[in-house]
Amino acid sequence: MIYLYATSVFIGFMVASTALLLVAERYLANYGTCKIDINAGHKNLEVPGGSSLLSSLIDQQIFIPSACGGHGTCGFCKVTVASGGGPILPTEMTFLTRAEQRANVRLACQVKVKNDLQISIPEEMLNVKLFTAVVASTRDLTHDIKEIRLALQEPAEIDQRPGQYAQVRVPSKDGPVFRAYSISSPSYDKNLIELNVRLVPGGLGSTYLHQLKVNDQVFFTGPYGEFRLSEEAATEIICVGGGCGMAPMKNIIFSLYARWPERSTWLFFGCRTTKDVFYLDEFLAL
Ligand code: FES
Repeated sequence: MIYLYATSVFIGFMVASTALLLVAERYLANYGTCKIDINAGHKNLEVPGGSSLLSSLIDQQIFIPSACGGHGTCGFCKVTVASGGGPILPTEMTFLTRAEQRANVRLACQVKVKNDLQISIPEEMLNVKLFTAVVASTRDLTHDIKEIRLALQEPAEIDQRPGQYAQVRVPSKDGPVFRAYSISSPSYDKNLIELNVRLVPGGLGSTYLHQLKVNDQVFFTGPYGEFRLSEEAATEIICVGGGCGMAPMKNIIFSLYARWPERSTWLFFGCRTTKDVFYLDEFLAL
């Protein structure tokens, strides 16, 4: 009995002190201004300490991929933190391979900026921009996939490669979150991006995008993705996918055709019924 009582008191004490520490850290800790060195001096930032690395970078217009709104559940926001990041948290472990852990890869949303940091990110990520666009058109491609074309306002042009994706800002009750969608329009279309969005029941991003009307304003960041097509004109390309996996393949095929009309390219598209086939006319015309 005494043993049980002592254990409960001890656990209660530990829970209370942890809660107190968290509250103290939240409201009393003052980390001052911290420096973030990106890619060995390529870019140097000064940010107020106390926020996550992900939001500190976003505040400075550096957009790291993130599909879960910084909740540590998508694993997209990987950056290498050479120093100042503290130990890897249990919340990061499931998303990091052993090799990544050894290489100091971290989830930017889980690293708190408490002191100066040295990080590295792919150079291309420094060119990712926040775009303002309006809906130019929407149309049903199948019973659950919509094509949504976004006309760019600011910046007015995008430089994307086939296979890259954009992250659309989606309003939610907990504040905006980002959802990733492949760009289906060819890279020579500089003033718009086209998305193929399958409606996922209860899905935040697809529900938002499916209810958009012409002229609605949309924000997105991009382009993201390190996929690169072979520059060898003699290399045959084989695209395999299904459903809204059509998006990157359409971009690849139309972009390729514009550049190398003779290049051999195959498309294998899987679907359950003939009603799920789309872009057939466009491909036949090509
Ligand atoms: S933003 Fe999703 S895990 Fe970091």
